[in-house]
Amino acid sequence: MKWLSFSVIALLSLPVCASQVEVLHWWTSGGEARAVEVLKSEWAEQGNQWNDFAVQGGGGKSAMTVLKSRALAANPPEAAHLKGFELHEWGSLGFLRDLTPMAEHLGWYPQLPPMVRDTLSQNGALMAVPTGIHRVNWLWLNRKVFERQGLKPPTDWAQFVAVADKLKEQGITPLAIGNEPWQIAVLFETVALGEGGKTFYRKAFLEQDSATLTGPDMVRVLTRFQQLRAYVPEKYAGLKWHQATNLLESGGAAMQVMGDWVKGELSAGNYRPGEDIECLPSPGSQGLFSYNLDSIAMFKQRDPAQLQAQGELAQLLMTPRFQQEFNRVKGSIPALTKPDMSKFDRCAIRSYQDFLLAEREGNLLPSMAEGMATPTNMRQGIMDVLSNFFNDPRANPQQTALHLERAMRSTR
Ligand code: BGC
Repeated sequence: MKWLSFSVIALLSLPVCASQVEVLHWWTSGGEARAVEVLKSEWAEQGNQWNDFAVQGGGGKSAMTVLKSRALAANPPEAAHLKGFELHEWGSLGFLRDLTPMAEHLGWYPQLPPMVRDTLSQNGALMAVPTGIHRVNWLWLNRKVFERQGLKPPTDWAQFVAVADKLKEQGITPLAIGNEPWQIAVLFETVALGEGGKTFYRKAFLEQDSATLTGPDMVRVLTRFQQLRAYVPEKYAGLKWHQATNLLESGGAAMQVMGDWVKGELSAGNYRPGEDIECLPSPGSQGLFSYNLDSIAMFKQRDPAQLQAQGELAQLLMTPRFQQEFNRVKGSIPALTKPDMSKFDRCAIRSYQDFLLAEREGNLLPSMAEGMATPTNMRQGIMDVLSNFFNDPRANPQQTALHLERAMRSTR
């Protein structure tokens, strides 16, 4: 309890002077960098200094590698974008500051939706503050391309394939995607939701049920997933997610399946989400909401000035104003209860409405591709199997289901 009173008193009573924080993140695309600017400028408005520790690479793999080497050198940054299982893994190793005293003192708990509170808690302790809720199961489509070709947006995967074949006949790339394993995992996840459904998804990835992982539904999902390989861009190797979005914007590709960080990219390029680029639930996943909760965790520190700076940053992140401004640019929705959505675009409003509905109906599903559903090692194993499969036209779905189950079992 001594620590509790120290940190809270320290937070409230240290003399006013510039606080400094170093924050690790991988928000480096055009839209993401604009979102970080919102945070930096609100932090600077308070007279504080921001030391940016940005590591390129969607999905955060490189950022996590760099973070590990800093932590091993006993020099972690004050704060880092850590989420889902990764957050819990760092927490179990004892690296993270327990934010429960602040949460209790400042009355944060009632402001957190149950999913947010659960995702960020470890053995009852709050291990991070949320910055926004991304939805992963989205289909983005270029409206002009669809209108020009007289095509209707697909609402299931069979329709997707039919539409994609027509686009391909016209020389238009149907699906904007690159060959990075995490992008492939996002696509697979949406196929699993749309073809397999909620119960299948839960059994396969949350319960890791062997019979489901090797059963006929998984084989069907993998077969459909494999079909989609025919629709990728010519320059698929090395294409980053935001470059894929740029292809979609320019009409060089007709569709993209990706989380709503895509929206940040659209606005950065002056494309109107929900108008120039339509946002729809990914095929067959209407009513479901696979979430990716972004959050910032604080690494344990001894220096009172660093503790103070962390406290101030956490408080800033928890303000409705920050959550509104940041998420409008980032493409996500605020991670606090009852946000004011009046200034958000159509896709964010739809996301929020779908979130509430999914919350009520038990349809909120943690994203496997985004590290919300399985431990990091297991996710890595899943991604390896999926990307080998997707990139090998001769690979066999039955055998791949067995590989997937084995990869998951060996990392359990
Ligand atoms: C993060 C998002 C980010 C996306 C692409 C995801 O893992 O949660 O905040 O925009 O990767 O970089």
